[in-house]
Amino acid sequence: DVTELGPYRHFMQKEIFEQPGAVANTVQRAIELGCRAELFGPDAEAIFTAAPAIRILACGSSYHAGLVARYWLEEWAGLPVSVEIASEYRYRRCREPDGTLVIAISQSGETADLLAAVHAARERGKVRLLAICNVPHATLTREAELLFLTQAGIEIGVASTKAFVTQLAALYVLAVALARCRAGLSEAELQALNDALPGLPARINATLALEPELERWAHELAHCRHALFLGRHTLFPIALEGALKLKEIAYIHAEGHAAGELKHGPLALVDEDMPVIVCAARDALLGKLASNVREVQARGGRLFILAAPGTEGEFEGIGHHLTVPGGGPLTALTMALPLQLLAYHTACRKGTDVDKPRNLAKSVTVE
Ligand code: G6P
Repeated sequence: DVTELGPYRHFMQKEIFEQPGAVANTVQRAIELGCRAELFGPDAEAIFTAAPAIRILACGSSYHAGLVARYWLEEWAGLPVSVEIASEYRYRRCREPDGTLVIAISQSGETADLLAAVHAARERGKVRLLAICNVPHATLTREAELLFLTQAGIEIGVASTKAFVTQLAALYVLAVALARCRAGLSEAELQALNDALPGLPARINATLALEPELERWAHELAHCRHALFLGRHTLFPIALEGALKLKEIAYIHAEGHAAGELKHGPLALVDEDMPVIVCAARDALLGKLASNVREVQARGGRLFILAAPGTEGEFEGIGHHLTVPGGGPLTALTMALPLQLLAYHTACRKGTDVDKPRNLAKSVTVE
């Protein structure tokens, strides 16, 4: 029964621990068929092949999922991608080139600004609409030509966890499917991206096993009034999401930044009282991220580093350090989990209403 807490203290914690199954269910057909256009609907292959550009529309955590997907879509499918906050896009004045693939991402499929943005997109050109949604019979799913349903199940906690992570899984499948239609990658590269999916639930499980250490980090964070989250490339939006989680449920002022932007402002906030949570992938930007980290260290910032395997050498002797299992492009997905757990345990420590944070609603159906 979805309304039973079982051994968990809050629905948010239960939903965090449901992620291995939620992701497995979301990618099951993609594993069986390969990441193919037909997973999105019968017309998907023709629409994907003809699209001149991609426009992603979303709000909140769903917007952050879209920001991660941009990196994958640009790199693998070779298409121009823009990601828009729905409440801004709806009031912009712009044209959409014919055939533009509009991707609306929404857990609920009922967010008022998102539905209005979708209508605006349709008035701005002959666009094709793909919805990525967690609720099968939502307003959004009824309007879309192409549909991919995430299989997170009902999410009760206001702060999105399993819905966000299953969106990332769906968007990964989409990016690989688009790359196939656009001949953006070699067969071997496509195969390698497909092959990363079956091991994903086990990787998520291994990452969730970090909970006791993150609880210890949370005890320190609970005393702070502010926090910074840093990442680069796909981990930049994950830093935004980590900051959002901490704000939403622990009521701590938190900002996510692209680590390369530190020098352009956020570094001025760093002193001994400022916790700085860093997400590190093993990628071409690791050296640059490590030098950003040393800038924080030199100013006395309290560093909490979440690092993919093989990056440890870069951060030896610097602050707190945890290795997050797994590498490759799905690092963005697994890296979201320790940030959820960190926010969750910080909120528990502070005694906030984790599942129903003040002033927030699960689904924002008014403007
Ligand atoms: C609210 C929820 C968030 C969610 C956002 C967008 O703010 O609290 O968790 O990310 O709405 O909702 P949607 O249902 O469109 O994904």
